[in-house]
This record gives sequence, C-alpha cells and structure tokens, in this order.
Amino acid sequence: MHTITASVPAKIILFGEHAVVYGQPAVAVPVLDVRAHAEMIRIDERETAVIHASDLEIQYEFAAQKIPSKVKHIDEAMRFLIRQQMEIPETGWRLDIRSDIPIGRGMGSSAAISVLLIRIMHQFVSIPLAMDDLIRLSYELEKYHHGTPSGVDNTVVATSQPVYFIKGEPFELLEPAQFHLVIGDCGIGKKTGDVVADVASAYKNDEKKYGELFQCIGDLARFGRLMLENGDHEGLGAAMNSNQTLLRQINVSCDELENLISAALSAGACGAKLCGAGRGGCMVALAKNEQHAGKVKQALDNAGAANSFYTRLKQEFQ
Ligand code: MEV
Repeated sequence: MHTITASVPAKIILFGEHAVVYGQPAVAVPVLDVRAHAEMIRIDERETAVIHASDLEIQYEFAAQKIPSKVKHIDEAMRFLIRQQMEIPETGWRLDIRSDIPIGRGMGSSAAISVLLIRIMHQFVSIPLAMDDLIRLSYELEKYHHGTPSGVDNTVVATSQPVYFIKGEPFELLEPAQFHLVIGDCGIGKKTGDVVADVASAYKNDEKKYGELFQCIGDLARFGRLMLENGDHEGLGAAMNSNQTLLRQINVSCDELENLISAALSAGACGAKLCGAGRGGCMVALAKNEQHAGKVKQALDNAGAANSFYTRLKQEFQ
C-alpha cells in the first residue's frame, strides 16, 4: 500500500516574542531534532476516513459527530483544509499523527500540526504547494487557534530555517554561525492566545510604557540577529538576558521559568530567556559548546525541568 509521509520541526523564538505582534522584528529558529510526523494511506474511497493520534492514544472516524477534545485542533484543521482545497476527499484515507513537540510549551506545537497537515494533504492529492501558500494557509489556521498571531511560528516551522520576521513583511532567512542551545520545559502549560490577550489588555491600559518596551525588544532582535550571524557568543547571550529582563517587565515570566533560567546561568550559560508566550512553557539557554550544553542540560534537569532538549544551530542549514 502506498504510504505518504511528512515531518516538521519544533521552533523556538530567540528574540522578540510578544513585541512581534506589535510590528517589531523577531528571530526564530527551528528545533530540528524535535518534530511532528504524519503518515497517510489511501483506503477504499467508500470507507470513512480515520485519524489516529498515536502519542495521544486517540483514534476516531473523521465523520464522527463527537470529536475527542484533545484532537479538536487536528479535526478543525482538516475541515478547514477540505473547505479550502476542494480536491481533498472526506473519505478514503487514514492519517496517523505523532508529535514529540510538547503541547502548549512555546515550541510551536500548534503551528507544527497546521504545517504538517497542510503538507501531507497536498501530497496526498498531488497538488504542488508553494512556500508562500503553505505559510498563508498555516497562518489562517494559526488565527483560528490563537486569535491574533504574528505569523512567526508557522513561518519558521514551514521554512525549517532560522528566520528574521516582521509581521506583514517578507521574512528573511538567516545563516547563523555555530551555536549550542539548551531548551528547558518548566512543566506548566499555557495557552498562547490567553497570554497574548493579557498582554494586549495591558498594552491598552498603558500604550506608552508597553510601546517603549516593545521597541526595546525590537532593538534587541535587530542586534541579536547580527550576533547570530557573526558567531558572537557573549553578545548573543547578553542580548538574550536583556530580552528576558524586558519580558519580565511585560509580566510574562513566572517563578518556574525563572528557576530554570537561574539554573542555566549558574551552570555558566552565556544567556537565557523564556521562549514563546511565557507564563509557563519553555526557556532557552545558550551554551559555550556541545560539551557545555550537556552540563547546562543536566543543570536544568536537576532544577526540575519537565523535559529538556539540546539543539545545534548552523550545520543543518549549510
Ligand atoms: C508565540 O510563540 C509567540 C508570540 O509572540 C505570539 C505570536 O507571535 O503570535 C507570543
């Protein structure tokens, strides 16, 4: 039987989360070793389509009236795609999805599922998919899930490359020097849309203060991009620490994230900050080299990280 497969990476934001929603630049990189995978097979076209989310241990018929709540986002994405792309049939397929990306932890789990489904469904019906269309469609899905996303998450997941992103402008692909990053999950899940909405109401109450904070975050994204391209560990680390100071000021950090950030810095990380919406989820630390990354990872595990990941920038993109 013919099987189609697709896979997409997780992502982290190195600079600019939240401020990017207000027009400031962000720098985001894929996490190539942490991925979501899909496999699709054609079955008799008269048979009901089946969706199997193996890591969630859920299997259900696409025609079912009652959708298990844990796979609602997958189901909604599939229906959205069928509405957009008439050639995609509602019957006659079986889709298996497996994701290693922690859900709701700032690593782009929802963007990854959106990009993954769009890719595999287009492959299934043999319709070519240009990068622009992939980004446009996955942005529509992100809006569906999060309200007012900037589009950075689905863009970095779709391109699988580091990006310099400004909302509403063409993105730029970056070519970073070699860097070693360690990501720690503090164990608390938060909905991106809720945190973004909280920041929006804080901004509404004090546009001047928040506007200035966003501007400073944007400056760090511009500076951080240069440090990334120039291979400057100290400069990049210092910019990450400054970005974290500003994220604290917009009130999106939390004790659990601060605990992991302190652990990473005590282990000698060049810099550390939360990544993604915050108030839970993940932080990222910059290690000096691969061996040092092992030490930082150990420090995060000892400090109680629910999960930790090592990823290397550069060689994958050459
Ligand atoms: C979430 O990964 C990043 C935010 O800036 C939201 C967005 O850009 O859509 C918090």
